[in-house]
Amino acid sequence: MPTIAWDASMTTGVDSLDDEHRQLISWLNDLLSAMSLGRGSAEIAGLLDQLGSYSVTHFGREEECMAKYRCPVAAQNIAAHRDFVTTFTSFRHEFDRDGAAAHLVVRIEIEMMRWLTSHIKRTDTQLAPCVTAA
Ligand SMILES: [Fe+2]
Ligand SMILES: [Fe+2]
Repeated sequence: MPTIAWDASMTTGVDSLDDEHRQLISWLNDLLSAMSLGRGSAEIAGLLDQLGSYSVTHFGREEECMAKYRCPVAAQNIAAHRDFVTTFTSFRHEFDRDGAAAHLVVRIEIEMMRWLTSHIKRTDTQLAPCVTAA
């Protein structure tokens, strides 16, 4: 089962945001592992809830930072976060309906794990030069 790890290519220039990314990645790995190992639905639902609420908190903090440092991708970042929340919500509904079905594990890997790493690398890291320039 693939797991992901935070690395220096994900540096945003704001230590607290980097810590939040590490936490999100760690919980996503936990979630994928719990689903793949067939853990109970209460445990998986708990991981999903934790991840969902932490994502929203993180997105809010990061959006404030991008506004503060006048990051050129601020609006694009907000739109991407909204899309993720929509995806996450539909995923949560599917889990409530179908449980940890194999296709949901694949969706978590593609739509959440790969999404998160590429979003951090392509969008969130654009904050770094803005912080340096401030
Ligand atoms: Fe972001
Ligand atoms: Fe982020």
